[in-house]
Amino acid sequence: MRFGSPQDSVELQRMTWPEPGPGQVLVRVRTAGAGYPDAMMAAGQFPLLGDPPFGLGEEAAGEVVAVPAGSRFSVGDRVTGITAFLDGWGGYADYTYLREESTIRIPARMTDEEAGGFPIGFRTAYAGLVDRAPVEAGQVLLVLGAAGSSGGAALQLGKARGATVIAVAGSREKLDFCRRHGADHVVNHRTEDLPARIAELTGGRGADVVFDPVGGDTALAALKAVARNGRVVLIGLASGKPVPLDSMDMLLRNYSAVGVLATPGSPEAEAVVWDHLADLAAHSTISTPVGQVYDFQDVPEMIARQARPTAGKTVVRIAS
Ligand SMILES: NC(=O)c1ccc[n+]([C@@H]2O[C@H](COP(=O)([O-])OP(=O)(O)OC[C@H]3O[C@@H](n4cnc5c(N)ncnc54)[C@H](OP(=O)(O)O)[C@@H]3O)[C@@H](O)[C@H]2O)c1
Repeated sequence: MRFGSPQDSVELQRMTWPEPGPGQVLVRVRTAGAGYPDAMMAAGQFPLLGDPPFGLGEEAAGEVVAVPAGSRFSVGDRVTGITAFLDGWGGYADYTYLREESTIRIPARMTDEEAGGFPIGFRTAYAGLVDRAPVEAGQVLLVLGAAGSSGGAALQLGKARGATVIAVAGSREKLDFCRRHGADHVVNHRTEDLPARIAELTGGRGADVVFDPVGGDTALAALKAVARNGRVVLIGLASGKPVPLDSMDMLLRNYSAVGVLATPGSPEAEAVVWDHLADLAAHSTISTPVGQVYDFQDVPEMIARQARPTAGKTVVRIAS
């Protein structure tokens, strides 16, 4: 592939997959999760990747076909995890490498589609709402982009932690989707006055935590609704612009902003994270909010559509 529009830049290549090295497992892919980062990668706007060619797809689910010596996984295990995409091995492929520390066995109740779209959104939400800006039971969590990949996961993880969740999205269809996935309240950022609605919903207090994968004007409006001692969790910029922070406003209104990049910690720390997420999924406390499911041959078209995503987590079916 080369940088450009997905239809021009994404192409099929014949590959061979060497035996996996330490810390990776080789899987035969069944499903792979998609998201806005695919569009950024195809356009050459993803900060952590060098020049093409590289494989696209940050997460995948399938069967393990090869493991290095000493792996905690075995051939035949049904797993889902984060791909070695930073080394060029993406999930939109017949086979891919998963990073062992970011891989779990698929809980029995999870479908293939839920499994393929599980790791990135929930690992990101965990980094924000558990590690970096822990949201507590009884607090108010405001989630921007709540019908999207990381936002949809944050909505559910917030509910799992006992927060009252206000979901923000841009259409009635997306607001209905957020309600079905557990939001206590929903606000349309296109048609409603966001700070006024949050004030109304919180009795004037504001939100204790704002989860922001969107940035831009929507996040700027949400800043006006942060409670005293509140925290803004900076995740991404789906709007194309980061949120402009005003240090004087932060000082005068006593709130802070926390940057989050969901990179793996030590193997021990990662094991705690993934065991926790797998346990919540096994009990159906959280589940991937699957949206559209695409066929493998439609990946370029699917990536092009990530700039204007529909409700829920987009997943690609690679093999049955
Ligand atoms: N920090 C990390 O570790 C990490 C991890 C994963 C992703 N990210 C980043 O997070 C961002 C979102 O990724 P994602 O996969 O969650 O994206 P996604 O699934 O495409 O969701 C993004 C949501 O943002 C909303 N949106 C887009 N433009 C908007 C605007 N102008 N105003 C308000 N809402 C807008 C859309 O909803 P509406 O239609 O409802 O507006 C969409 O549902 C990306 O920048 C990505 O790189 C960061």
